[in-house]
Amino acid sequence: MDDLTTLVASARREFDACADPAALENAKARYLGKSGALTELLKGLGKLPAAERPAAGAAINVAKQELEDALTARRSAIADAKLARKLAADALDVSLPGRTRGIGALHPLTRVQERVETLFRSMGFTVADGPEIEDDFHNFTALNTPENHPARSMQDTFYVEGGMVLRTHTSPIQVRYMETHAPPIKIIAPGRVYRVDSDATHSPMFHQVEGLWIDRDVTFADLKATIVQFLRRFFERDDLEVRFRPSFFPFTEPSAEIDMAFGDGGWLEIAGSGQVHPNVLRAVNIDPEEFQGFAFGMGPDRLAMLRYGINDLRLFYENDLGFLRQFA
Ligand code: PHE
Repeated sequence: MDDLTTLVASARREFDACADPAALENAKARYLGKSGALTELLKGLGKLPAAERPAAGAAINVAKQELEDALTARRSAIADAKLARKLAADALDVSLPGRTRGIGALHPLTRVQERVETLFRSMGFTVADGPEIEDDFHNFTALNTPENHPARSMQDTFYVEGGMVLRTHTSPIQVRYMETHAPPIKIIAPGRVYRVDSDATHSPMFHQVEGLWIDRDVTFADLKATIVQFLRRFFERDDLEVRFRPSFFPFTEPSAEIDMAFGDGGWLEIAGSGQVHPNVLRAVNIDPEEFQGFAFGMGPDRLAMLRYGINDLRLFYENDLGFLRQFA
């Protein structure tokens, strides 16, 4: 019996010295395994005189139960210690990111569009919209560009089924708006447009903001004042220089490209514009003897490039988060 007491005591010491589950299982094997110390005692029972066997067997079973209990206690002590260490380490690691949900941000082009809308709204324009898949009539014909007109080749067009096109500009929104509204008309219309074109300053899909102001006496001077005022406010620079360069569009007469100064002596083309051609007004039953006004088609993507100092337009469309996060 003394043997048993000593054995249980030394097993307890060994178990308590184990710092991890693997060491504990090894220690368990030394006592309760196939040739463990306690197992050997059990095997020895057979050699005892029959009269002593029941008492000895009972004592060994008590000892065995004590070892099992000691093992269970040690197992959970080791697990508790491990958890406590992990919690302590976590609690101290202030550099871990919090488990918040990522907050999204507006795309730089969306921010520019909102800024453009805000500034034009403040000048009395309302914001109109139109379909991206257009029919030939609204994209070309009603804009004084009949079939076979050479100006159609100014825009390399994506044709889709049924004689429809991906609109090559936002100008068809002028037509749709004038079909459904009588003058005075004072709108801008931002949206996506599509052309077969791709390099650092051209993407096959890009944006335009159409402008249209029709009333009895809206002149080219109003066009200049509106554009210059807008650009100076957009770029927050009262000395910003703007240049109107004579040009041609079938749907305006006279027509001008609008350039703005940037950097050291550079000019960037940011819009086409002009006084709306009488044929365009006639196509939507507005009397050109009574009403007149201007239209422009501006490239907000170019404004965004200048505002944010970006030299390749395609970066806006690659969805590279490393790029986009810089504007968040
Ligand atoms: N729609 C023309 C273009 O995309 C721009 C423009 C719009 C010119 C309105 C004049 C008036 O090139």
